[in-house]
Amino acid sequence: MSIIIDEGKRTFTLETRSTAYQMKVDEHGTLLHTWYGKKLSDDDLSYAVLRKDRGLSGNPHDVGLYDRTYSLDLLPQEIACYGAGDYRISTLRVQYENGASALSLTYDSYEILKEKYDIPDLPASYSYDRNDKTLVVRLKDVEADILVELYYGVFEEKDVITRTMRICNLSDQAIKLLNAGSMTLDFTGGDFDILTFYGKWAGERQVQRTKLQHGVFSIGSVRGASSPHYNPSCILCSEDTNEDRGEAYGLAFVYSGEFLLACEKDGIDQTRLSLGIHPDNFSWELLKDESFMSPEVILTYTENGFSGISHTFHDFIRDNIVRGAWQHTRRPVLINNWEGTYFYFNGEKLIRFAEEARDLGIELFVLDDGWFGNRNDDNAGLGDWVPNEKKLGMTMEELGLCIKSTGVSFGIWFEPEMVNEDSDLFREHPQWAVSIPDRKPNLSRNQLVLDVSRRDVQDYLIDHIEAVLAAGDISYLKWDFNRSLCDKFTRALPRERQGEMAHMFVMGTYRILEHLIHDFPNLLIEGCSSGGGRFDCGMLYYTPQIWTSDNTDPIERLSIQYGTSFIYPVSTMGAHVSASPNHQTGRETPFKTRTVIAMSGAFGYELDPEKLSSEEKAMIRKDAELYKEIADTLLYEDYYRLLPPTHPEAAAWEQVTKDGRRAIVSAVWHHVRANMAPVYIKLRGLKGFAHYRITFTEGHSPESLSRLTDTQQKIFKGEIHLKGDTLMNVGLFLPEPVREFDSMMFMVERI
Ligand code: DGJ
Repeated sequence: MSIIIDEGKRTFTLETRSTAYQMKVDEHGTLLHTWYGKKLSDDDLSYAVLRKDRGLSGNPHDVGLYDRTYSLDLLPQEIACYGAGDYRISTLRVQYENGASALSLTYDSYEILKEKYDIPDLPASYSYDRNDKTLVVRLKDVEADILVELYYGVFEEKDVITRTMRICNLSDQAIKLLNAGSMTLDFTGGDFDILTFYGKWAGERQVQRTKLQHGVFSIGSVRGASSPHYNPSCILCSEDTNEDRGEAYGLAFVYSGEFLLACEKDGIDQTRLSLGIHPDNFSWELLKDESFMSPEVILTYTENGFSGISHTFHDFIRDNIVRGAWQHTRRPVLINNWEGTYFYFNGEKLIRFAEEARDLGIELFVLDDGWFGNRNDDNAGLGDWVPNEKKLGMTMEELGLCIKSTGVSFGIWFEPEMVNEDSDLFREHPQWAVSIPDRKPNLSRNQLVLDVSRRDVQDYLIDHIEAVLAAGDISYLKWDFNRSLCDKFTRALPRERQGEMAHMFVMGTYRILEHLIHDFPNLLIEGCSSGGGRFDCGMLYYTPQIWTSDNTDPIERLSIQYGTSFIYPVSTMGAHVSASPNHQTGRETPFKTRTVIAMSGAFGYELDPEKLSSEEKAMIRKDAELYKEIADTLLYEDYYRLLPPTHPEAAAWEQVTKDGRRAIVSAVWHHVRANMAPVYIKLRGLKGFAHYRITFTEGHSPESLSRLTDTQQKIFKGEIHLKGDTLMNVGLFLPEPVREFDSMMFMVERI
């Protein structure tokens, strides 16, 4: 039973395979949070909640008359409301017609749903497992007649609990939500570190570990999208948690818009974590009987360190977030023309691109920016989703036919939510661009944002995108988003409802994506936002993969893909081999190293194949075949970080099948030194008693191996086999690099 309810003790215990979550209705009707962590017996754990009169923490009126120890300011609760005696960070704030803001929720009822809940118009995890259920706990502010339903999705086998809430206005007055966050998670202790993933354009999801101190630590976005600056996810852990061991809580937001993730450690060392839509620019009007449902949060807990968190998230995102034909299917090896040609191409060049690609074993040709309207640089044309036949020298039908006749499939780039002032769309519908009346809007990449919160704009985009997809018989779409929102205002809503625009914008994007998926069920959509600027579980519900970063320098990619891997599976990370010297950094790296790093992702190339040497072409032919063979292990099994890129010399990682039969180990030297100290890696996920053979797939360097003893060489040539226990405890040393940025990839197979 994953949901245990003790009506007598008024406890609700949610159990997954190895975690438990408990809440309790106390004698005053407050829904206390009493436990989230390791699975325990279902005792009533509220005994551990201490009460004490701690001056300046007030008491609810009727209780305070006789008991000064009971204060909402001190109790661990399931949902934190603003304005009625709890002064810590809050998740829910309501404003009444008279301008006041105070909400006191007490228990009303509960319901168990046999299935995992949905959230109308928003992405949410789903389940086909009949054991996965939903608990709904209803709370009420009796004086204001407001009902709040807390939803808990319990994914028993996956060790995941999801949360969201619905706020219903049952009163006769119109109310305004000023904060409608998705969850509060209270802890009675306070010794936590928090891992967050910060970044910038071309440097997304860098790992930061912060010790939580007294006060509020927060990350968030007010940029209209989740953004590259802070990812909407975190890991809360003990001070001694590492990759393999230690307690950790993982959180990820199933939302692509503005968010606030805040953590407060209070004066008595309690910790409160809250996550939801960023309240800064948010408000939502609820008339009588209207309700609002907040986006979903995914939660997990483990004692197995960061790798435990990552394995749960990777499985969950692959099985319960990503949908459709490409969910578990090997993604096509693609070639994208962006870094190959930028805006400078015509139809003939593209067809030659596709022909070369076919000869190299590549399966999909992706035509990036510049094929539409008057788009010959990044100053004009966005919004005019009509093929530029003059530039292409043919229609989209003809181009699609030519590309497909070479034997590869055809993909195309769009940036739907944007418009250039220099475009027919803007000239015709200036009001569709996001801007404030009588105020010049900010430009970014010389473009404006289209007001996708409007239904007419959504419909325009659906019609135009679908027409191009049908004309070119297109099987892949790259959905880009290259600027942040500001000057937020929509002409479609009245003054008092402008605070709804940013959330409606995100829902508009989701509606368009849902239409495309519905009408083109085999279409593979790759999300993108100047690289990985909108890399979140909301987008992954529609786009099984996301372009991880515009930074294709393999050495820079080490830390980007490393940070991304804490929450997101390798299958979701678009990764391409690009030209050397790299266009972003000027760094020169071996072709092999670019390949090793890109293979730990949805793999492809982003260069002009006509400029390749015959040696490089031969490598691509071999690598494309290799990838097809090992992609299932690389993308869909367990991922371990073996050496972080912060290691002084090398970074290494491993993908291993869940049955421990096959592992693929990749290692890259990012810093070569004279007289190097040996670098060891300890493998993970193997069967201790089984024997394993090691064979190189990439980076077999005869020169490097020749420096080893006979026995050592035989191990790396697969002639001497080692046991899983040995590989996981004694480990392997990495054969020394023969040049800067050398790398290797080897297979470890059970015999
Ligand atoms: C930003 C993307 O991240 C790039 O890959 C490319 O598609 C450009 N936009 C095109 O403008």
